[in-house]
Amino acid sequence: MSDKRPESMQRITTAAQATAFIDEQTAALRRQIGDSKVLLALSGGVDSSVVAALLVKAVGKQLVCVHVNHGLLRKGEPEQVVKVFRDELGADLVYVDAVDRFLDKLAGVADPEQKRKIIGKEFIDVFAEEAAKLDGIKFLAQGTIYPDILESGPVKSHHNVGGLPPEMHFELVEPIKLLFKDEVRVVGRALGLPEGMVERQPFPGPGLGVRCPGAITRDRLEAVREADAILREEFAAAGLAGKVWQYFTVVPDFKSTGVKDGLRSFEWPVIIRAVNTRDAMTATVEEIPYGLLRTIVARITAEVPGVNRVLYDLTPKPSATIEYE
Ligand code: XMP
Repeated sequence: MSDKRPESMQRITTAAQATAFIDEQTAALRRQIGDSKVLLALSGGVDSSVVAALLVKAVGKQLVCVHVNHGLLRKGEPEQVVKVFRDELGADLVYVDAVDRFLDKLAGVADPEQKRKIIGKEFIDVFAEEAAKLDGIKFLAQGTIYPDILESGPVKSHHNVGGLPPEMHFELVEPIKLLFKDEVRVVGRALGLPEGMVERQPFPGPGLGVRCPGAITRDRLEAVREADAILREEFAAAGLAGKVWQYFTVVPDFKSTGVKDGLRSFEWPVIIRAVNTRDAMTATVEEIPYGLLRTIVARITAEVPGVNRVLYDLTPKPSATIEYE
């Protein structure tokens, strides 16, 4: 497959068009892969999930998925990957619990670029170690999509498995590399992936790590994860989940005084961020209704240990970026 989308290629918007794409791709994948084995780093994001589902359909157990839990995923994500791919689709899935390994490496590291580097390098190391344990892998599948090619060349920058050690030679399998994001979602739906997975908001490669600014500690990371889960639940209940482009929580590394049950507390604030954008280059802030904000504040301060205050970030991009690091 060339890296250029042909002018004649129709935009995939309907289930029928998605089914035609799936049929064509499964046939092409069977031709390309033959009876060899193919490896995929499955993060659970839309792109890698759609590639996994396509490959399961095309070559079944010849696909080996590796899901690395680096401890920076959102609440429920690793469990969902195992449930959907291993339990429901019957995929051969290697689940790697690398939580301690990542968090130990990140302990005490406050510099954002250093944190990103550690996460990226550790991810490649863990993935390469898992790959080395497997026999007969000839292909490496990647969830590259067309904007990745247009923007940054053919290799996906986050979870960058293009950086595998040189002795690990794999041929690339990139079945959705000519699709735009909205088309990937249509294909994912036609493949029967759950709506929550297909409609997932963008999530950075370094995950919650960039939402726990400064040196990550396990308790503050847990506060980010719990607050994020509450925010997502309340956005879904209010019908905002598919409407707001990206929304999340941040727990900065400072404490302020508060009072709970008549006792003074000294705890973290949770910052809520909810933005809309077309291309992530600029962004506007979602005007969350006050009633919903009050519910979120009440739940977070009652349910998240170590938190006594909730702030709403009203800053567009520019001057702020979407993430905090
Ligand atoms: P910023 O913070 O630069 O974010 O306004 C723009 C968009 O990019 C996402 N983002 C990342 N995605 N790896 C990723 O895969 C990263 O290191 C990364 N940093 C930011 C961010 O979530 C937002 O959607």
